[in-house]
This record gives sequence, structure tokens and C-alpha cells, in this order.
Amino acid sequence: LIKILRVGQGKREYPVAIGPGVTVRLIPWLKKARLGPRLCLITNPAVFELYGASLQVSLTRYGFEVVVLTVPEGEAAKSLESAGELYTELSRHLAERNMPLLALGGGVIGDLAGFVAATYLRGLPLIHLPTTLLSQVDSSLGGKTAVNFSTLKNQIGVFYPPRVVFSDIETLKTLPSREIANGLAEVIKSAVIGNPRLIFFLEKNMEKFMARESNVLQTVVCAAAIIKASIVTRDEYDRGVRQTLNFGHTIGHAIEAVSSFQVSHGEAIALGMIMAGKIANRVRLFPARDLSRLQHIIQLAGLPGTLPSLDTTALLEAVKHDKKISGGKLRFVLPVRLGQVIMRDIEPALVAEVLTAE
Ligand SMILES: NC(=O)c1ccc[n+]([C@@H]2O[C@H](COP(=O)([O-])OP(=O)(O)OC[C@H]3O[C@@H](n4cnc5c(N)ncnc54)[C@H](O)[C@@H]3O)[C@@H](O)[C@H]2O)c1
Ligand SMILES: [Zn+2]
Repeated sequence: LIKILRVGQGKREYPVAIGPGVTVRLIPWLKKARLGPRLCLITNPAVFELYGASLQVSLTRYGFEVVVLTVPEGEAAKSLESAGELYTELSRHLAERNMPLLALGGGVIGDLAGFVAATYLRGLPLIHLPTTLLSQVDSSLGGKTAVNFSTLKNQIGVFYPPRVVFSDIETLKTLPSREIANGLAEVIKSAVIGNPRLIFFLEKNMEKFMARESNVLQTVVCAAAIIKASIVTRDEYDRGVRQTLNFGHTIGHAIEAVSSFQVSHGEAIALGMIMAGKIANRVRLFPARDLSRLQHIIQLAGLPGTLPSLDTTALLEAVKHDKKISGGKLRFVLPVRLGQVIMRDIEPALVAEVLTAE
């Protein structure tokens, strides 16, 4: 069963197809869109071996000529240097403006290939083939592309929507559990922002999800993608409602930074969501019962529920640094119940209290 979403507005609208084996639809889609016959597949060696090689074979069989470009695995590949190397290869292969770039992999590949697609010859057609839970529910949706610059994450980038996204949920079966947990943190985030039924579903089906049962993967990826898709469609350029997607990220980013990235992004935002839930509970926005359900679901996902021993002063400084200050207060996305969040300005003293109460 394949689900098709429509994301973005007007001319920048694009379809997102989610389902088992959905990548087979890429070939008819390319033919219909009159793209090719030359294509560039951007991936990393591990993902190429798992999914890229067979994709290359079927594309070739259907008459496409595939240039494969790989970058090393890991966040460090999201750099201007890697972008430069890809530009060099594209020009060596005489890439023209109608040559589609296929981004096969997780968010690192999607962000880097997206940035290259947006900038090379002022824009090549971009096709996302996300293969991680995080990239299927989060980074492939919304048109943000970026590379890191010196120590700053996502500092250089541009909004550039893909032409189409094919999310093959079967690829999640080879994903290491640490990466599943990372993606689940964003799934839980989206559920808390906009879908109480997804929370219920996860409470009931987390074991089946962890066992990677296809129908459960499909339900969860679709539900989470629909939430993100609807938010980014309403606010393409991150000026309003899209900021709710920062739920858990204000304290989460601080935890990542203060731990020198020893705490993973998913673990950090799981903790950030719990801290935001506690703050919301203190200001009488969020019932204690919902807070314990949030803690429980985070635990079911294999994510941490208590802060590692980090310097709380440094944490608070990092939160203040995270540009969300207005009138001395800190801007937070806070839950009011499971399925709804609001923006609130919070006194730093209260944040400090919740951080040290651990
Ligand atoms: N553009 C956006 O809106 C947006 C949103 C959220 C995150 N991001 C970015 O996404 C990146 C993180 O993405 P990620 O979590 O997907 O990490 P990732 O891209 O680093 O992938 C994680 C690991 O999984 C491996 N992998 C990928 N697919 C696999 C599969 N099917 N089976 C086995 N292994 C597989 C990769 O080789 C990699 O080692 C960060 O750079 C972050 O900034 C972007
Ligand atoms: Zn995140």
C-alpha cells in the first residue's frame, strides 16, 4: 500500500510517495517527467552497497545512464569541501541543467545533495530517496538544504524543494537501532505537536515497530510525514508555525553542544522534550498525566529519560545562546496536551530550576 502526500505550495509543490518498494515507481516517474537519460546518484559507500547498486542496475536496464558519486559516511561529509568535490565531478561529467540528482541515503546525503542541486548551474532537478527514519519523516520534507561551516551546523544553505520524494519503508529494516531511535525522537516530537492518535498507536505498537513490521513502519512513517508536511506547507520559509517543529530542540541543542556531541541528536531532543514538558507542567499548561505518558513513550523508544551528568550552568548558557531570547526570557515550544503545542516566553530561572531538579 503506497501513500502519496502533496507537499509545498504552487509551483513548488511536490509529491511524496511512501511505501514498501516504492522506488520502483521512480523509473516511470522519470520517464513521465522527461528527465534523463543521464542521472547522477549521490550516496555513500554503505548505502550504495545496500540499495544503490541494485537501483543503478535497474535504471541502466531501462536506458538511463547513471553517474554514481559517493561521499564518506557521517556528518563531516556535509561540508563545502564535499560540495566542491561534487561540483568538480559534475563538471567533469558535463552535467547539464536538466540532469537530475538522486539523493540516496539519510539526512546527511539529502542536505548535501540538495545543496549541490540547488546551486550547481543555479539548480538541477532534485529527487530525494531517503533511507533513514529521520530522513523519511523529517529532513526530506520541507525543502531545507544545508552544509555545515566551521563549527556551525547548517550555517550555509538554501530552501530548494525536490521534484519528488520516494520513501521506501523497507530500507528501514537494515537501519541500526541507534538510528531508529534517532528517527523515533522526531516521530514522537511530531506526534506531540500534532497527532494524539499517533501517540496512542506508538504506545500500543512500539514492539512491532522495533521488530520492523512493514505495516507498522508504514503507518508510523506516514503519520509523522503528514504532520511535518502539513506544517512546512503552511510555512515554507520558517517564519511562523514551522517553529513548533523546534519542540524539544531548544534544550536538546544545548545538551548536544555541552556534551560535545556525545549525546546523539535523538537522545538530546528526547531529553529536551521531557524538560519542555516539565517546564510546561510547572507553568500549569501540561497535565502531569500527559507528562508521564510522554516519558513512557520516550522510554519505549529506547531513548533516555534523565539528563546525563552535564554542567547545568553551561546548559543554561547554551540555551540562552540558542537565539531564542526575547526581553530576557527564553522562547519555548511547550506542550499543552499530547497533540498540541504553543509558544511561550519562559523566565531563565524556571529553566534553571527544571534543569537542576534532575
Ligand atoms: N533538511 C532538514 O530539514 C533536516 C531536518 C532534520 C535533520 N537534518 C539533517 O539530517 C542529518 C541527519 O540525518 P540522519 O539521521 O538520516 O543521519 P545520516 O544521514 O548520517 O544517516 C545515519 C547513518 O545511517 C546509514 N544508513 C542510511 N540509510 C541506511 C539504511 N537503510 N540501512 C543501514 N544504514 C543506513 C548512513 O550511512 C549513516 O551512517 C543531520 O545532518 C541533520 O542536520 C536536516
Ligand atoms: Zn531534530
